[in-house]
Amino acid sequence: MKRAKKIRPNQILQMGEDFGQPFTSFVPQPFSGSMTAFEYIIMIKILNLVKPIKVFEFGTYMGNTTRFILENGLQFSEEKQFIYTLDLNDTEGVKFEGNDDALAKKVVGTRRLYQESSYRERVVQLLGDSLTYDFSSIKHQFQLILIDANHALEYVTKDTENAFSLLDDKSTYTIIWDDYEHPSFTDLTAYVDELAYKGRNIYHVEGTNWAIELSRDLVVPPAIVGVSV
Ligand SMILES: C[S@@+](CC[C@H](N)C(=O)[O-])C[C@H]1O[C@@H](n2cnc3c(N)ncnc32)[C@H](O)[C@@H]1O
Repeated sequence: MKRAKKIRPNQILQMGEDFGQPFTSFVPQPFSGSMTAFEYIIMIKILNLVKPIKVFEFGTYMGNTTRFILENGLQFSEEKQFIYTLDLNDTEGVKFEGNDDALAKKVVGTRRLYQESSYRERVVQLLGDSLTYDFSSIKHQFQLILIDANHALEYVTKDTENAFSLLDDKSTYTIIWDDYEHPSFTDLTAYVDELAYKGRNIYHVEGTNWAIELSRDLVVPPAIVGVSV
């Protein structure tokens, strides 16, 4: 079966002109469900390449990634509503795979970490099941989209279809699927591979659980030989 192309982190890090730029980070949380520190480095690079005016996140969880994007991406946007992030207000009737059930139950009704940020009013917290949520009023607005909610195939498929309709594909953009190649979510990996095989410009970032779709104007340079990442 055809797989998404591999991209080395150094290929992404070579892109753009933002070397040496400071950023704001937080000690990564030790529990499952969050991004790694290394994924956050790649996120910084993507923020600087895409310069998103609006961001959409499927799956808020504790709000750590929301806060990270907020603190580091706000400089590119004058939109009052900079990040939209969706999570469940109730797990009733939702099907889960792996440990998604436990993660979801843990955060229903919780106070999220982005609420600690002085920029918190720039976050729009949406509540509902992504399978049935009505996105019709916010289509074609988002330059950065993170798909990281329910990893069962039915939900990933629906979230991806909705992401394509939320996307501002006239601008530079990136879509990130988290948990690509996660052993609990083999259907997700096969689905993303199928999208790549059908012609979407999707790469697996080596050393991460991310598959990313880059808009075609983001040209990927050759890997630097002898660099370990
Ligand atoms: C892996 S966590 C998200 C992690 C977060 N993006 C981060 O980087 O910290 C997945 C989240 O998706 C939410 N979720 C699961 N099923 C969902 C659904 N059907 N609709 C909306 N959110 C869902 C869960 O409640 C959970 O908070």
